[in-house]
Amino acid sequence: MIVLAIETSCDETAAAVVRDGREILSSVVSSQIAIHAAYGGVVPEIASRRHLEAIVPVVNQALHDAGVAMAALEGVAVTRGPGLSGALLVGFSAAKAIATARNIPFVGVHHIEGHLFAPLLEQPVAFPFLALVVSGGHTHLYHVEGFGRYTTLGRTIDDAAGEAYDKCAKIMGMPYPGGAQIDRMAQNGNPDAIRLPRPLLRDGTCNFSFSGLKTAVLQHIQKHPVTVPGQDADDLCASFQEAVCHVLAAKTEAAILQTGAARLVVAGGVACNSGLRSRMKELCTKTGVELFIPHPSLCGDNAAMLAVPGDYYLSHGHVSSLSLDVTATWDMDRIKDTMS
Ligand code: KG4
Ligand code: ZN
Repeated sequence: MIVLAIETSCDETAAAVVRDGREILSSVVSSQIAIHAAYGGVVPEIASRRHLEAIVPVVNQALHDAGVAMAALEGVAVTRGPGLSGALLVGFSAAKAIATARNIPFVGVHHIEGHLFAPLLEQPVAFPFLALVVSGGHTHLYHVEGFGRYTTLGRTIDDAAGEAYDKCAKIMGMPYPGGAQIDRMAQNGNPDAIRLPRPLLRDGTCNFSFSGLKTAVLQHIQKHPVTVPGQDADDLCASFQEAVCHVLAAKTEAAILQTGAARLVVAGGVACNSGLRSRMKELCTKTGVELFIPHPSLCGDNAAMLAVPGDYYLSHGHVSSLSLDVTATWDMDRIKDTMS
């Protein structure tokens, strides 16, 4: 099946053409980051307007790159939620329009389902597996038994890991989104330079909390101002990264022990992080778990990842109705009940 996938949940307008939920024929991502950077974060109204401008050229580019005519498409998969409603509506309406015009089925997919299955675009991953999803909006541990069969083992009770990175970068006066810049600076810093808290490390759950860490960074800077670029700033970034990765690895280890998982998927934008990637490799070597982390180009928001669950649902008759609406919030544990 040749599926067109569309993603517009936040600040990336993305489209991809994927064959059989595995082979990427094209993947186009048009980022709005430069526009939102001036405001220090994503402005929902601006995001929607920018998606409207970009959606037709991005879809056309994806078809052109794939060498696939609109008439050859057999299904459309699109992010239904969670995300910014106005932004989601642009991609969702485009998907419905293409499906109606071509008389092909479309399915609304959970954005996090896309992240979860991104590694399957590179190699098969057998069920069940444990998944750590770390992005700007999510920090979740899931037990994944199959498509649509997810149990949440733990989640952040306040900020997501990516959000903590971006807020910490903002406090240090760096542009939005600062996650990748903190990662780069951390590589020149001393992770033991500043003692920062490890929130919820020993609470006996698989939950996370990152807002206290952000406050600790703010309090440190108020007492010891740092200059970017500079060794002090690099040390603070390295110490922050160490604290985040320590907690993410410890909670993932607890989830491995709890589930007896043999495989671990790490996905979402923060899975690009060099510290997290090496920490997860160490953890999996220690526990004998097989690790799957997608190439960085498949960790951040993209449309190809949505075609993996999209292809599965469409080829198993889970087609969405044209009356289905987007949803800003959407619980992964009850996904099958709320799909169509
Ligand atoms: O998955 P994603 O592209 O979008 C969401 O669904 O949120 O994740 C974006 C997040 C941002 O918070 C960004 O700062 C963070 O991923 N990020 C990183 C790195 N690259 C992107 N955080 C830490 N280290 C990185 N190398
Ligand atoms: Zn995402």
